[in-house]
Amino acid sequence: MADKTYENIKIEREGNVTFLVLNRPEKRNAMSPGLHYDVQDALRWLDDDAQTRVLVLTGAGDSWCAGQDLKLYFRETSNNPMERKRSNAASHNWRWELLTRFSKPTIAMVNGFCFGGAFTQLCACDFAITAEDATFGLSEVNWGILPGGIVSWNLTDMMLPRHAMYYAATGEPFDGKRAVEIGLANFAVPRDQLRAKTLEFAAKLEKLNPSVLRYTKEAVRAVRHMSADDARDYLGAKQDSLARADKEIADKVGMKKFLDEKSYRPGLGPYQRPEEK
Ligand code: ACO
Repeated sequence: MADKTYENIKIEREGNVTFLVLNRPEKRNAMSPGLHYDVQDALRWLDDDAQTRVLVLTGAGDSWCAGQDLKLYFRETSNNPMERKRSNAASHNWRWELLTRFSKPTIAMVNGFCFGGAFTQLCACDFAITAEDATFGLSEVNWGILPGGIVSWNLTDMMLPRHAMYYAATGEPFDGKRAVEIGLANFAVPRDQLRAKTLEFAAKLEKLNPSVLRYTKEAVRAVRHMSADDARDYLGAKQDSLARADKEIADKVGMKKFLDEKSYRPGLGPYQRPEEK
């Protein structure tokens, strides 16, 4: 079946890696209500799309996402409370709920400007790879608003509190290398290598058992705000649930290879599933 098409985003494929591209380059991929509805629909579809093994979120042109569209999202909905409520709900739903619960690994591939509200989807992606010269900024302070939605929560969750306070209060922009230093991104690479490095990393993820990867990312997110006792209980139950969901894990294939066959050393690289070798 042909891929869906949208007005404000586009879908690109490289094998089992699906690129969801915010596609309003003339507005630096600022998020209009229409863009929110499009991404919300696409994420629901792609979560069940068998071809998608890794999802990459990126932007067309030289911007990743310039935040909420100040004109279409804020100004033009100011006298339309129903549309404001509807677009606000879609905005939160895809940028946080759908992305954090996406059943396949997600990578933010930050190809340029990343401002304001865009920090929520940046933090919602499991991994972030940025161009060294990308520009990040919590510019809300300049618009008479604070890092709202859940942006302030995202900042304190992802960065050390001193960094969160500094960048939120000053609005000072920073580059991709700094984003790595303060915990917002995994790697910063030269812009001309961004896509290749992202695909290289996606290929590593594709080789891992998809159920283990899914349960691991769910677990890492879930325990973050639990007590140690709750986490121990949760992780025990989660492991049992994983064993029921995946035969390879129930059969302890990896342990057999290490303990009995002595054919695998995890310290030398992740376990590769038999059919992928
Ligand atoms: N909302 C609405 N329109 C925007 C936004 C935005 N967040 N960002 C860019 N645009 C529009 C511009 O108005 C302009 O439109 P026009 O061609 O109709 O005049 C077009 O995109 C291109 O923008 P320029 O400023 O001309 O592009 P440039 O490459 O010089 O600068 C940059 C890009 C740095 C992203 C600049 O546009 C900018 O600072 N934008 C504001 C970013 C921001 O503060 N975002 C946070 C919004 S608040 C929030 O998310 C909660």
